[in-house]
Amino acid sequence: VNDPTTTTPGWSALAAELARKVADAVDLGDLTWLDAVRRTPRHVFVPRFYRQDGRGDWDTIGPGDPSWLDSVYQDMPLVTALLTDERGHKIVVSSSTKPALMLRMLHALDIEPHHRVLEIGTGTGYNAALLCRHNGDDAVFSIDIGADLVSTARTRLAELGHTPTLRVGDGMRGMPGGAPYDRIIATCSVPAIPSDWTEQLVDGGLLLVDLKVGLHAGNLVLLRRHPDRLEGRFLPKWAAFMSARDRDAVTPTRAPSVSQSDAITQSMTRIDPDPWSGLVPWFLAQAGEIALSGYGLRGPNLDTRRFSSLDGSWCQVGPPDADGNRQVSEGGPRRLWLKVEHAHREWNEHGQPGWDRIGLTITPDGTHRVWLDTPNGTLRRSLQPATGPT
Ligand SMILES: C[S@@+](CC[C@H](N)C(=O)[O-])C[C@H]1O[C@@H](n2cnc3c(N)ncnc32)[C@H](O)[C@@H]1O
Repeated sequence: VNDPTTTTPGWSALAAELARKVADAVDLGDLTWLDAVRRTPRHVFVPRFYRQDGRGDWDTIGPGDPSWLDSVYQDMPLVTALLTDERGHKIVVSSSTKPALMLRMLHALDIEPHHRVLEIGTGTGYNAALLCRHNGDDAVFSIDIGADLVSTARTRLAELGHTPTLRVGDGMRGMPGGAPYDRIIATCSVPAIPSDWTEQLVDGGLLLVDLKVGLHAGNLVLLRRHPDRLEGRFLPKWAAFMSARDRDAVTPTRAPSVSQSDAITQSMTRIDPDPWSGLVPWFLAQAGEIALSGYGLRGPNLDTRRFSSLDGSWCQVGPPDADGNRQVSEGGPRRLWLKVEHAHREWNEHGQPGWDRIGLTITPDGTHRVWLDTPNGTLRRSLQPATGPT
């Protein structure tokens, strides 16, 4: 093995410091994960990354930049692949996940050294390297839709002596060749759990994925396979991954259909329209009801929020007046903001539950049922059967 780590002196002290930061951020029972962070050269997987400047342009940061090595060992996500969309805009299609988040997920999955693990979203290959250190190369399977990503990840892993099974393809179908798996981890978000993942998981196995039913609506959910269902809860802390793509290119933006209705409803609200000011009710509003896809800032001071859904419905929420009231306008076939109001009311009535009180059950027909505290609990909502990204 040609050791690429010898050409960058100083990396192991930085990796040890990163492991210390991760240990401060995440309560890891299993110290072997920290050892994997300490011994895995992240700079081999991130030979360059992209950083947006104040004007929105992307700078490339590589070994020629004095900040490169230091940045690579910070506990930060790093953008590693950009593609250009049909309007000429650069779109992020891959990144190296924030290490503390990665470790939080690996820890939550309770991965034992003998487990076979499938990763959806190989990206740089860094997480696959951590898995190889922990479980051995033969137990690690990883798939990405980006052919170039997989080929570079394979080369980098091989340079370090790792030969996990890597595939190019749509991870929404899992990776049948290596099934069954004891654990499945996805590092891209999905609107529903693909049935192939359930089928490729052993009974009692665990699956961890970022379920996002709409714009910012959802979180990491940890599901166990039972003979007749997948079931589990959301993790207490919110996180967000990039959405799964259905092609090795940028997914074309889907424009909302033009509203047939000119009728505009006006009302007042006291709810802050920024999703992150109430992420659980924001999810409940969209779970099984409406999926918001468009988001924009409006008004002379950019303090008005506008949301839209693909059926042409939209709502616009203005800044608060002196009493905290905001003007709402809604148009299109459905009253989007009304759903948000209902979800907030219900969430308040139940004592403002956090993510870890919200659970999910998925039955073989693909129905996703959201519940509070117990599978028969209140707050029940049903999401559409899993179809994968459309
Ligand atoms: C956050 S990055 C992965 C980070 C990676 N685990 C690492 O350690 O570098 C998300 C990845 O998901 C991949 N992805 C998106 N849609 C996919 C799909 N349908 N199937 C498989 N991979 C997909 C992207 O190409 C991207 O590389």
